Amino acid sequence: MKRVGIIGAMQIEIDLVLDKMELLKEYKFAGFPFYTGVLYGREIVLTRCGVGKVNSASCTQILIDRFNIDCVINTGIAGSLKNDISVCEMVISSDVTHHDVRKAQMKNLFPFEETFIASEELINLAIKACISTASKYHCGRIVSGECFVEDNKLKGVLLNDYSPACVEMEGSSVGHVAFINNIPFIIIRCISDNADEEAAITYDTFEKIAGNQSASIVIEMISNI
Ligand code: ADE
Repeated sequence: MKRVGIIGAMQIEIDLVLDKMELLKEYKFAGFPFYTGVLYGREIVLTRCGVGKVNSASCTQILIDRFNIDCVINTGIAGSLKNDISVCEMVISSDVTHHDVRKAQMKNLFPFEETFIASEELINLAIKACISTASKYHCGRIVSGECFVEDNKLKGVLLNDYSPACVEMEGSSVGHVAFINNIPFIIIRCISDNADEEAAITYDTFEKIAGNQSASIVIEMISNI
């Protein structure tokens, strides 16, 4: 893995990496900033895609086409979908899927995958990073859709349909675009809320802490590549 692409949706999700990296050059394509530089001797390209799957799909494709990256890491925050996964704990993607696209469409139409499987090598690196920083972590499926989930009823539907660990709004499209380009990927998320009726309040309290926590795991991963 010579050059690593790192994507966060919001500034608070990339700030820590931006602070820590040696910044060489900044680009702008389709409104997305791309920061090239070095972190622990590793070439990285950091970008901020904005919220939502269309943004993250577009940004991931540009990252792949213009920056010749060897893998992509998506860092950020998420809503927990399981009672044993608490705020400020980490979720490492085993696989990702869109919760707002019918399973039959995923299976029967291009690219003919119900879920996109994360890179085993990157999963192992993420686990190692969580262990060495004493961060509580869970490995599991991450689902993404074009809505902020703050509703126990929808939470129940997602759990029933996908058995996911957490929900967010970009990871599945990063995985989808990485898959069709044959690029290894992983989604690393720190829980900011429980995707229930209290989610908006919990989110406001924890978004920055959780965003930094996830970014710190990515930094630790880069130091171990
Ligand atoms: N990102 C963080 N929390 C979320 C939630 N509850 N739903 C969707 N995306 C999120």
